[in-house]
Amino acid sequence: MRPTSVGIDAMAFHGPECYVDMEDLAEARGVAPAKFTQGIGQRQMAVVTPCEDTVTMAAQAGRRALQAFDIDPDEIGTLIVGTETGVDHSKPVAVYVHELLGLPTSCRTFETKHACYGAMAGLTSAADWIQAGRARGRKALIIASDIARYGLGTPGEPTQGAGAVAMVVSPDPRLITFDPEIEGDYTRQVMDFWRPLYSKYAFADGHYSIDCYLDALESCWHDAVGKAGGSHEAFALSVLDACFYHVPFTRMAKKAHHRHWETELGRAIERDSEDGARVEDSYRQRVEPWLSLNADVGNIYTGSLFLCLIDYLRQATSEREGRPISLFSYGSGCGAALSIARVSEGAARFHRAIDPGGQLAARRRLNVEEYEEIFRACEESDRNDGERIDPARWGLTGGLHYVGTADHRRRYTK
Ligand code: HMG
Repeated sequence: MRPTSVGIDAMAFHGPECYVDMEDLAEARGVAPAKFTQGIGQRQMAVVTPCEDTVTMAAQAGRRALQAFDIDPDEIGTLIVGTETGVDHSKPVAVYVHELLGLPTSCRTFETKHACYGAMAGLTSAADWIQAGRARGRKALIIASDIARYGLGTPGEPTQGAGAVAMVVSPDPRLITFDPEIEGDYTRQVMDFWRPLYSKYAFADGHYSIDCYLDALESCWHDAVGKAGGSHEAFALSVLDACFYHVPFTRMAKKAHHRHWETELGRAIERDSEDGARVEDSYRQRVEPWLSLNADVGNIYTGSLFLCLIDYLRQATSEREGRPISLFSYGSGCGAALSIARVSEGAARFHRAIDPGGQLAARRRLNVEEYEEIFRACEESDRNDGERIDPARWGLTGGLHYVGTADHRRRYTK
């Protein structure tokens, strides 16, 4: 029998061990701190050292999700890593993660890429795999793992970050259940943000990328209405308990919610109007309470949308169970999707298991000089084959780390 429901059964976050405070960064760049903390909406920015990469973050998020939700690695039949920070032109991040997590050899394993939309693409593929009956009782593990890098002193610098979110997809999901009847999709070739093969840094046409994002949201909404038979009743903003958007910086979620309302009402909304006040209220109720982790981590590309969901679930109470929520994924370039889900019965029980608060509190605060030194060291980290990178050099002890290549093969401590 084919499963009738599918959704997210387990989730976990893993991020770098260091961060920079946005006020320190603003001061060093000669910018008013309010521009970064209010205009962009970020408090802190996660910083990877040369020993932390897409693989180490993905494997640790994956391990945490399996352990915290008591899932045996043998139950995983598909592993997908969504990333735009691959470590090899050919070999997927997922196959390293497969080994590090001890997943079965019969598990399908691959990487998906479409900028920040990559993990959402993986998630929907996994849901289809389960609903088509091909999972045969097994679950799928989807991991979003990325490092956002624009370069020192660039406009994109305050929107950097790094981290991974792991999600287990199953037909009996303990956290959220997708509504397969409602989905909106959108694709358009645009040059809003890209990273050529020769560059470690992303190029962005920043203000244009914001317009592309908002146009994609509007188009997804219209597509979802069409697929739902011409009505948005089932996902009207008034019925949604929370709205999650891709969060390159938290202020973007506010712009997105405003456009979401404009799209639903079919007219422009002035901020200083009665409608504007209603949108502001809705933002405070449905969006802002779940942006705290993003404000302390920064853009984690594929995982950013799901980090808000973790923030929501770590605060969940039983009253939220059964309530509908929306998820909007945007990947530059561009690809986007709007999905609707419901909070599963019993989800609130997992609020502690899912909370990465302790992990974030244990991070080391860097001053801007240390951050810049680490940033430059990362540029060189995989250029000198045969040179061992010592995690202790970057203040890291124990755990899983990248230690450089030997004979052009990536090496990890286990
Ligand atoms: P910028 O040009 O330096 O900043 O870059 P700005 O001048 O636009 O200012 C930003 C905000 O701060 C503005 O607010 C200012 O008014 C405000 P807004 O008008 O937008 O509401 N501001 C202040 N507020 C308080 N006090 C002050 C002050 N000064 C100014 N003193 C930009 C900003 C986001 C463009 C830049 O950081 C950038 O290029 N970032 C990278 C691209 C990006 O994040 N794009 C987002 C949409 S595309 C996307 O999300 C996909 C992505 O994740 C990639 C993927 O898919 O893989 C990026």
